[in-house]
Amino acid sequence: MNIKSAEFVMSNSDVAKCPKDRLPEYAFIGRSNVGKSSLINMLTSRKSLAKTSGRPGKTQLINHFLINKDWYLVDLPGYGYAKVSKSTKKVFQKFITKYFEEREQMICAFVLVDIRHEPQPIDLEFMQYLGEGGIPFCVIFTKADKLKPKAIDKHVEDYKNIMLETWESMPQHFITSSSKDIGKDEVLGFIGELNDGMEKSI
Ligand code: GTP
Ligand code: MG
Repeated sequence: MNIKSAEFVMSNSDVAKCPKDRLPEYAFIGRSNVGKSSLINMLTSRKSLAKTSGRPGKTQLINHFLINKDWYLVDLPGYGYAKVSKSTKKVFQKFITKYFEEREQMICAFVLVDIRHEPQPIDLEFMQYLGEGGIPFCVIFTKADKLKPKAIDKHVEDYKNIMLETWESMPQHFITSSSKDIGKDEVLGFIGELNDGMEKSI
């Protein structure tokens, strides 16, 4: 898919104030610093459309970016970083869960996980939360430039094995690197197919 235009529309923490035009949207969620904002910049080929930082906690609000005047990419704040409390559930900010529960035009959430780390309880818990709510999601592995191909395969395999303990199958997943432009066509192609599918079903 070709990205012809990408524009920032609004930031807010109130789901009720998000755009009301009912265009389809795709949300990026995951731990702080996993690379959500960087991925949005990579997908849109705009270096600083979404604000990124080496320090976790940069994105604090729900950010809507209008793509090709036709659909949105949504950059969300990260959930729990490092010192999470024992009950990780508490660290999912209220307005984030509200976003997923109320935003009917959210077609698919992309849950980002850092490919370098073994599966983290908080990510599995968030996917569990989405699954229980019937909220569609995919997994995006980030920072693939940091590992060699063999290690990538192993980490994905480990992830699959853990997920298959709870899920019937591994959700659709993508391997990406924002710094090396890996996975762009796959993610955009997937979004394009979903958009096309929706047009046909209208
Ligand atoms: P919050 O907004 O704080 O939740 O973080 P975020 O998930 O939006 O992460 P962000 O995109 O701001 O990136 C965090 C850090 O990771 C930055 O220093 C990025 O440069 C770096 N980073 C992001 N993606 C990649 C990648 O694919 N490869 C490498 N090597 N670094 C990356
Ligand atoms: Mg961010």
